[in-house]
Amino acid sequence: MDQLAPPFDPKDFRRALGMFATGVTIVTTNAADGTPVGITANSFNSVSLDPPMVLWSLANNSRSLPAFSGSEFWNVHVLSNEQEALSNRFARPSEDKFAGLALDTQASGAPLLPGCSARFQCKNAFKYDGGDHTIFVGEVVQYDSCTLPPLLYVTGSYALAARKAAPVSTEPLANLEGASYSENLLGYLFGRAHFQFIHGIRGTLQQRELSDTDFFVLSLLSVRQPLAAEEIAAHIAYTGVDLSAGALQSLVQRGLLMEEPGAQPGLRLSPSGSDAILHVLAAAKAVEADLVGRLGELESAALRNLLKQAILATDPGLPKLWQAPATAA
Ligand SMILES: Cc1cc2nc3c(=O)[nH]c(=O)nc-3n(C[C@H](O)[C@H](O)[C@H](O)COP(=O)(O)O)c2cc1C
Repeated sequence: MDQLAPPFDPKDFRRALGMFATGVTIVTTNAADGTPVGITANSFNSVSLDPPMVLWSLANNSRSLPAFSGSEFWNVHVLSNEQEALSNRFARPSEDKFAGLALDTQASGAPLLPGCSARFQCKNAFKYDGGDHTIFVGEVVQYDSCTLPPLLYVTGSYALAARKAAPVSTEPLANLEGASYSENLLGYLFGRAHFQFIHGIRGTLQQRELSDTDFFVLSLLSVRQPLAAEEIAAHIAYTGVDLSAGALQSLVQRGLLMEEPGAQPGLRLSPSGSDAILHVLAAAKAVEADLVGRLGELESAALRNLLKQAILATDPGLPKLWQAPATAA
């Protein structure tokens, strides 16, 4: 490694520090006049178990420094996955960062925010100079935590945590010269996860005599209806399903879909179509609940996040199913 030669390039130094993944906290206190004060901080860390102590550091040019320097109590809020907007709110200078926020009641007087993964109510114990920051060390007088997945911060972006997975397969690699693949092939992982998940609703589909195509069409209409045949085709073309073979007519003949005449003609679910898809969706939700139970909330949130990223990265330009269609002017 090269000999250290400060001063470093500040951007590069920050980039290197950003390799260290942290949680995201909001630290709050009251100013001398009782005004609530808070800032987003990822410099939080544990210090001691006995006595229970934590630390964080605050930039000396922060507007909040006088309030924290003069206060006896401060609260650290470990933000949950759902609190990215709150993190951004407290990371910008503003006259009233607390506007419209409901606060929980607590003993110390420092503001206590709800909906966090963990909270540490602290009595300030020490204050140290830390270069251009001031380091606050506090004794934890009370804490609480829940199972909400925590928000992370790494390489300058918000992130979600997931435990490292065990290998999927215990079999040795197949040895097909030049054409073998490992269990890390995304296509294999997507495909296997999809089929193992869908397996849990096969029984319900068979009981209701529904094909995969029927399932796609009915579940689409359970989100948005009525839809014209061409709109249905556009929504599910990416699945490779071919509707020209009479799948929609068959659903109408079996009494699962109805033609809707009038100003906005199209197809909608009949009462028995609604009943059928509700049962299939209930089975799918049960499979999901079982999976979430096995993975845990943290991994489930991280999985949703990565699947959304993969879907957006490969989106062929599908109509936005969960967005209201643009209305004609
Ligand atoms: C993820 C994240 C972590 C941060 N961590 C710290 C920190 O540990 N210490 C700090 O002084 N500022 C930190 N900041 C910046 C402050 O939140 C920001 O400067 C804020 O405006 C300070 O509030 P104030 O100007 O009202 O005092 C962080 C910002 C973000 C987005």
